[in-house]
Formats: sequence, structure tokens, C-alpha cells
Amino acid sequence: MKILMTYEMFREGYAELEKMYDVTFPDGRDFTYDEVYDMISSFDVLCPMFNFPVDKNLIDNAPGLRLIANYAVGYNNIDVAYALQKGISVANTPDPVIAPTANLALGLMIDAARRITECDRMLRKHKGNMKVGVLENLGTQITGKTLGIFGMGRIGKALSKRARACGMEVIYHNRRQMHVEEETKLNVMYVTFDELLKQSDFISINAPYTPETHHVFDEKAFSAMKSHAILINTSRGPLVDEHALVYALKNNIIRAAGLDVFEFGDHPLPELFELDNVVLTPHIGTQTYTARYEMAKAVCNNVIGFLEKDRNISLVTHP
Ligand code: GLV
Repeated sequence: MKILMTYEMFREGYAELEKMYDVTFPDGRDFTYDEVYDMISSFDVLCPMFNFPVDKNLIDNAPGLRLIANYAVGYNNIDVAYALQKGISVANTPDPVIAPTANLALGLMIDAARRITECDRMLRKHKGNMKVGVLENLGTQITGKTLGIFGMGRIGKALSKRARACGMEVIYHNRRQMHVEEETKLNVMYVTFDELLKQSDFISINAPYTPETHHVFDEKAFSAMKSHAILINTSRGPLVDEHALVYALKNNIIRAAGLDVFEFGDHPLPELFELDNVVLTPHIGTQTYTARYEMAKAVCNNVIGFLEKDRNISLVTHP
């Protein structure tokens, strides 16, 4: 069996896989799309990273491909419908992603609310030589406030527990309402999307990117939000119309944002760099040693379990 990794990664998590099969890793950098395109025809399994596009063109050049094992919970980088239609299975890595992403969402929420990064920037700029009045740099506290979670999957649920522990009320909107037992256990309440916008002091986006979720947070959504609302996105950038967000942040339509993902991939709109009421991180939701290692192990489990049928794996069953 021949396995192709598109990305550079430390190898601890891949020991079992490398022992069993012929695994090709790039050396010192990720493979480019064109390199993968040229190699793919002789491989049985492709392991891409969440930012590597697996499109029709690539799939058509891979007659022997049986599995695409994504290094991510999200799989919007893959044309899943086309892969499944061609009889190619798709796998993802949901479990190791939950805690680090929920933790980062909470971190961005507190940072944006208490203006941590903004104050850090200010202190550095003045090298500490400044008088700070007790009424300056006022933030807002999360305790006692309402968090609205858009997308109540595993990460949304993990965030709801953290928010409840911080004394927040939690409401949510999801494609499907959860069973009442689960809502009671998590102490969260289902609301319509309009009510989520209207009632939330903080909104966290934790839904996957699909054609239906493209730009759900647009000009209309921002104007329905509270003027002191803070938006957090650790999911995928294009759920937010970033031009409309810049306008809303500049014109006090909402108060602040914490963004780990951007509409145009790795490139936040330049206007965002000029705004103090936004905290930016470069897609670091799973950027911890533990998460990287556990995601690698999850990829291996998916590949080995798929080929050997000796363990449970996480298969994506629909686009
Ligand atoms: C990261 O963005 C993931 O989808 O796991």
C-alpha cells in the first residue's frame, strides 16, 4: 500500500503507519498541488492537510485512490461528493480538535472582551511610559453575559461547558435542535438564527463551511446584533463576509471580534490590521503539540482501520 502525505509534520504520530506501509512525506516543506497532481496516480491513500485542495481534477488523476484521510475535522478542502461518487472514502479527525479549538474560542472571547492584546500593544508601543487612568481601557466581563453558539457540534458543546463554567448563559442555533435531555445536561437553549443575533452578547461560530453557511454573518446579520456584541470565529473564514465585518467594526455596529480564520485563507483583509477592536490569530485552533500529535495518530488510525478493518474510524458519509 502506498500512502502520500501532502504536508510536513513531526513523525512521532506516524510510527505505526510507517511500519506497515510505504509512506511518502515531503522533505522540509509541504508538497505543492502540482507535485501531488504529478505523483498521485500511483498512490492508494492520500493524506492532505485542511488547506490542501482535493478537487475533481486531482481525483480524476488518481485511478488507484481508495481513501482520502484529512488532517482536520473540517473537510471543505475536499470535493467529498465527487470522491464518494468515484468510490473513494473520506476520513477526518474530529476528537483531538475539540478541546484545543474550544479553548482558543474561549481565549479569543476573553481577549476581545478584556482587550488583552490591545493593551499589550499599547504598553509595548509606549514601552510602559504612560499613565493609565482607572477609567481607561475598560473592557467587558463575560460572566453574566449571553453566549450564542452558531453550530452546536462537538466543539460548540465543549465551548458551552467552558462558558457555563465562566458564569455565562448559553443559547445556540444549529441545523437540528438537540434532544431536550442533552440541552438540559448542557444547560443551553435552542433559538432561531434571528434570536441568536438579537439576544447574544457574544457569538461564537463553530459550524462547518458549506454552501449553506457561506456568508451567514453578513451586513444584515451584523445590523441585527447588539451594538456591544463580540463575534468569535474559530471555524472557517467564509462563514463571515469579511468586508461587512470590517464595516461593522469600524462603525460601532458591533463592538469587537476575535478571528482565527479569514475569508481569504491566510490573508486577513488589510483593514483588519488597522483596527484595535479585533484580535487576530493565524488559524492556530489546533496549533498545540498535543493536538498535532493526536491528529497525526487519528489520521493513522483512519488509514490503518480503513485498510485492515481492525478498528473504528471516522468516515465522512456526506458532503
Ligand atoms: C482545523 O481547522 C480542522 O478542521 O481540524
